[in-house]
Amino acid sequence: MFQTDLFKNKVVLVTGGGSGIGKAIAKQFLQTGATVHIASRKKERVEQAAIELAAYGNVYAWPLDIREPEQIELLMAEIASRSGRIDILVNNAGGQFPSAAIDISQKGWLAVINTNLNGTWFVTQAAAKHFFFPQNHGVVVNIVLNNFRGFPGMSHSAAARAGVSNLTQTLAVEWADKGIRLNCIAPGIIQSSGLDNYPPEFTNDLASSIPMKRLGTVDEVAALTLFLSSPMGAYMTGDTIYMDGGARFWGDNWKYE
Ligand SMILES: NC(=O)c1ccc[n+]([C@@H]2O[C@H](COP(=O)([O-])OP(=O)(O)OC[C@H]3O[C@@H](n4cnc5c(N)ncnc54)[C@H](OP(=O)(O)O)[C@@H]3O)[C@@H](O)[C@H]2O)c1
Repeated sequence: MFQTDLFKNKVVLVTGGGSGIGKAIAKQFLQTGATVHIASRKKERVEQAAIELAAYGNVYAWPLDIREPEQIELLMAEIASRSGRIDILVNNAGGQFPSAAIDISQKGWLAVINTNLNGTWFVTQAAAKHFFFPQNHGVVVNIVLNNFRGFPGMSHSAAARAGVSNLTQTLAVEWADKGIRLNCIAPGIIQSSGLDNYPPEFTNDLASSIPMKRLGTVDEVAALTLFLSSPMGAYMTGDTIYMDGGARFWGDNWKYE
């Protein structure tokens, strides 16, 4: 779909790049010439993904918990030593559990906010300090979620992602003169490994509530990530782009009771 040398000589970090949407993003960047670093908590899974992705290009796997700033510092040092730079950061790592808001424990709430909001910020700030500011150049794509009508049953994650979208607006302004662009993609329901974390009663028949009557694909999210990261997206910053088959405008919400 994109020219095979579109990201030649570019270095990309995809958090959560060992599975699902993140793995598809890593693959498309590799297919278009980038060197790609993928990082997440489950060392074996991220390493196995790198073995598969190596068929498409130059890929490195690293263990990382985005909630741990010390681990992020170590990762930045490893990438500096392997590749010397990061041009594009994709904050894709994230997760949540379905629950009515009233039933969420303090621990559960904090865990979801810590991963999806704080973790995203910790990685972004580290990449900016180590690479984007000194380079006077950088691109960030944050994968959030479709919280256009709120997200009944996912209040914690919807709030965290709203924080990321708003943070993206602020940073787009604060960092524009540093040559740094940041945007968010808000996917609707995507046919991805992430859906395996939910009981079948939550995921049965999701397509019927979506105007396009199908789920999105990981490759569709990846293609938009590449567009936003490329010179085609050069005048876009601070935006949140929805990719949801029209779901935010019509249809039943995710079942949560
Ligand atoms: N699938 C959908 O319908 C959908 C819709 C909207 C938004 N999203 C968002 O899109 C992103 C990717 O989702 P997916 O469907 O591809 O699900 P997934 O396969 O579960 O991907 C989530 C990735 O994040 C990593 N991760 C989670 N917590 C982490 C942490 N603390 N530190 C580092 N890595 C962490 C996971 O790896 P480890 O477990 O190894 O850490 C995993 O690779 C997520 O942020 C998800 O919430 C998905």
